[in-house]
Amino acid sequence: MDDTAEIGLIGLGTMGANLALNIADTGHRIAVFNRTTARTHRFAADAGALAARIVPTDTLKAFVSSLARPRRIILMVPAGQPVDDQIAALLPLLDAGDVIVDGGNSDWRDTRRRAADMGAVQLLGLGVSGGAEGARHGPSMMAGGSAEAYAALEPILSGIAAQYQGAPCVAHLGPDGAGHYVKMVHNGIEYADMQLIAEIYGLLRDGMGQGADRIAQIFADWNDGPLSSYLIQITAHVAAATDPETGQPLLDLIVDRAGQKGTGRWTVIDAQTRAAPLPAVEAAVTARVLSGAADLRAQGASVFADGPGAVALDTDTLEAALIAAKVLAYSQGFSLLGVAGAEEDWALPLPDIARIWRAGCIIRSAMLDDMAGALQASPETPLAFAPSFAGLLRTHIPALRSVVAVAATAGLPVPALAATLAYFDSIRQARGTANMIQAQRDFFGAHGVERTDRPGASGLNLPWPPLV
Ligand code: 6PG
Repeated sequence: MDDTAEIGLIGLGTMGANLALNIADTGHRIAVFNRTTARTHRFAADAGALAARIVPTDTLKAFVSSLARPRRIILMVPAGQPVDDQIAALLPLLDAGDVIVDGGNSDWRDTRRRAADMGAVQLLGLGVSGGAEGARHGPSMMAGGSAEAYAALEPILSGIAAQYQGAPCVAHLGPDGAGHYVKMVHNGIEYADMQLIAEIYGLLRDGMGQGADRIAQIFADWNDGPLSSYLIQITAHVAAATDPETGQPLLDLIVDRAGQKGTGRWTVIDAQTRAAPLPAVEAAVTARVLSGAADLRAQGASVFADGPGAVALDTDTLEAALIAAKVLAYSQGFSLLGVAGAEEDWALPLPDIARIWRAGCIIRSAMLDDMAGALQASPETPLAFAPSFAGLLRTHIPALRSVVAVAATAGLPVPALAATLAYFDSIRQARGTANMIQAQRDFFGAHGVERTDRPGASGLNLPWPPLV
């Protein structure tokens, strides 16, 4: 039997190992290499029936030699320097036309830089979403790179991807960093979605005195409606779980400090530099940071000891508020993708992005199918203004207002819900209040203004009377 492998994978951490098994499971012979050789062999030994399609290799040279040409190599190593190091080690062993796929959460600018530096070897920047389970049984994948590099990988990627009604959740989204950019924005939306859910959980727990089991039931019910999604499903699931040792809800045993690897923060910074801000993601990133400031929060709780009050809200109102906030958060995300696609000359296909997010990824949801339809019908229209979603917002915004108002009155923080509401009210305010900002700027710094009665003339200094 020919023992060359069709594809190779480097980095057998959780994601890499699961992706390698997925590739073997879809009928491909795959070579694997890991920095620690023992892990490579343990992986092959544990692969059961799939071991027949796995070629463990002990050196990079042996790994490269085992691959059919043009070689296809997936890197599943931590983002940052390890990717540069691995590419540098591989390049002398490769030939023109070989393709390296970076399947980590790399910064899209790094992917662009690396793609430009690799000469005749091609780089495909591949955003992979879905966690360990997704990697094993069907992730959503966002590819950036040349058409040839994508064509070399497409048959394998389509086979391992999550399928939504028969359509594989993988697409070529543009050159160089496009795939990792879209994955970054996916993660930013993921942060917002998770924060919105956490705020509703907080109202149920702290404002309405509900226990984890009741909260689990509420989210499970919502998962049968318009909010149906992986994140709502796992929210119900984790809320229902109990600790075998103490019998308490596991959720109640977790310290309230959120971790983050940085992709949400990257999204926020990128969005601000493009003047396409994402207030929902900003609120989510800030909330994670403040969650880490446990000492500050403890101090605040003792200085202002009159804790939050009770809230009276029914679950239908909470559900409707979450629906409205979710639409607004996603609308912000897709708007950013539109702006970045134009600025970077990527022509990002927004409807395709919504489509490949319908299954496999962390933010997969029923609503993404409707979003794909709205973006297909009118890619230039902000999602929040697309007829179907504008109609939905008209009916659901009153609930978001009630929830934000009631939470504010009770003293319970709902930063992402409030940010989405303020965003909504800002983007539908034809005459805003920035004339006051401009007046102040012109008064103290002669920064110049435009006058409403002299269109086209900018930088005008107004005849302010002196301050006495
Ligand atoms: C995914 C996730 C995945 C991972 C992030 C979470 O799409 O599968 O987004 O990429 O869970 O690393 O990031 P934080 O650690 O920053 O929450």
